[in-house]
Order: sequence, then C-alpha cells, then structure tokens
Amino acid sequence: MLKTLVAVIVFSCIMVAPVCSRAGTDAAVDEHTKTMVRQHESMLTLQREWLAAKKALDEGRAKDALAPANAMAEAALVQDSFMLHKHPEKMGEFMEKSRRFRGLIDDFGKKAKSGDARSLGRLTLKIDAACDGCHKTFR
Ligand code: HEC
Repeated sequence: MLKTLVAVIVFSCIMVAPVCSRAGTDAAVDEHTKTMVRQHESMLTLQREWLAAKKALDEGRAKDALAPANAMAEAALVQDSFMLHKHPEKMGEFMEKSRRFRGLIDDFGKKAKSGDARSLGRLTLKIDAACDGCHKTFR
C-alpha cells in the first residue's frame, strides 16, 4: 500500500514537473513577446507622430505640431522598460540618450504651443539627430 502510494507520488512528480517548468517558460516567453510588441509599437508611434509634426511645420501650422509632440512624449515613456537586443550591456547609455531625446520633445511641445516656428525648425534638426544617434548604437 505504502509502496503504491510512493510510486504514485513519484510518478506524478515526474509527469508534472516538466509541465510546471514549461508553464513557467511559456509565461516568460509571453512577457518577453509583450515587451517586444510594446517597444516595437512605441517606435512606430514615434515615427508616425514625428512625420505628422514635421508635416504641420512644413505647411506653416506650427501649433498643430503640439498634439503629435504630446503623443511622442507618451510613446517615449516605454523606453524606460526597453529590452535592448543590441548592446544590452549599455543600458546606461541608452537611458541617457532617451532622457535627452525626451527633453527635446518637451521643448518641441512647448515651442509648438507658442507657435515659435524658428525654434521648432532648430529643434527638428536636433530631434532627427537624436533618433539617428540612438539607432546608430541600439537599433
Ligand atoms: C533612445 C533611443 C531611441 C530613440 C531616441 C529613438 N529610437 Fe527608434 N528605435 C530604437 C531601438 C532600440 C529600436 C529597435 C527596437 C527593437 O528592436 O525592439 C528602434 C526602432 C525604430 C523603428 C523600427 C520599429 C520596429 O520595431 O521595427 C522605427 C521606425 C523607429 N525606431 C523610429 C524612431 C524615430 C522616428 C525616432 C525619433 C523621432 C526614434 N525612433 C527615436 C531606439 C530609439
């Protein structure tokens, strides 16, 4: 009787253990996938909104660049939890670039609000450089 019980317990453990560890792995994979999708989407949002902001400036509608700037500021928040494929060891440098980028977006939003086209032109060059500068190392 006892032997049977032990056998049943041992058998169950052997059967269940791989399932449990699989479930753990699947959960980790799901989390990873979600993070990747979120960061991919945040970049696509940045791209779409940045094009909209520049179009507004080109067409002399400086104030219409405010809404895209706000959307960009929100999308950039995702960078706090980015998982870097390239140079994961350089998280500090990534965060510094992100912080600088967000500072530029904030300035851009303020200048859009006041319709200061000249400052917006200058900031546009800096923001383009910030996109490229981060991509050069991390994309
Ligand atoms: C602080 C760093 C950083 C800044 C600033 C940044 N990016 Fe990115 N971008 C990345 C990284 C890292 C990737 C690769 C993401 C990945 O592989 O998950 C990326 C990917 C992209 C992609 C490809 C999307 C994809 O996942 O396929 C686009 C488009 C993009 N960025 C646009 C922009 C634009 C436009 C700007 C500026 C307005 C910008 N990014 C600013 C780091 C940055």
